[in-house]
Amino acid sequence: MTYAVRYYTKTGNTKRLAEAIAKELGVEALPISEPVNEAVDYLFLGNSYYAFNIDPEVRAFVSSLDKEKVGKIVNFGSAAMLNSTYKKVKAVADTVGIAMDDKEFHCKGEFKGIHKGRPNENDIKNAIQFAKQYK
Ligand SMILES: Cc1cc2nc3c(=O)[nH]c(=O)nc-3n(C[C@H](O)[C@H](O)[C@H](O)COP(=O)(O)O)c2cc1C
Repeated sequence: MTYAVRYYTKTGNTKRLAEAIAKELGVEALPISEPVNEAVDYLFLGNSYYAFNIDPEVRAFVSSLDKEKVGKIVNFGSAAMLNSTYKKVKAVADTVGIAMDDKEFHCKGEFKGIHKGRPNENDIKNAIQFAKQYK
C-alpha cells in the first residue's frame, strides 16, 4: 500500500494528528501547500471545522487532486463541537471523482480553553491505531 499525508491547521492540532499518522505509515506529514505528485492508494487528509465549515484552502486542495493519482481519501481531524468534516470533504471529492474511505478518525480539539490539551496522548494513540488498519 502507498500513502500520502496532508493536513491543514490553524492552531496546530491537525498537524499533531497528521505527524502521528504519517510516522505510523512511514511517510512525511506535509501541509496542503504540497501537491500530491506521486500515485498513492490512500491520501490521509487532516482538516477541521472553522466557523461551521472546512477552510476554503482545503476545498481548493481537494478540487486540485488528480483522480489518476489518488485511490481514496481518508478523512481525519478534530473539532471543538462538531463531529466530522466527512460530508464537507466528500462533497468536494465527489466533484473530482475521488472516493472517500468509509472509515475516518475524529477526536475533540482544543479551542479557546474548551477541551484543553486535546488531541491528548490518548487521542494520538487512537490515531495511530486507526492508521495501523491501513498497513
Ligand atoms: C477560527 C476558528 C473557528 C472554529 N470554528 C469551529 C466550529 O465552527 N465548530 C467546531 O466544532 N470547532 C470550531 N473550531 C475549533 C477547531 O475545529 C478545533 O480547535 C480544531 O482542533 C482546530 O484544529 P487546528 O489546530 O488543526 O486548526 C474553530 C477554531 C478556530 C481557530
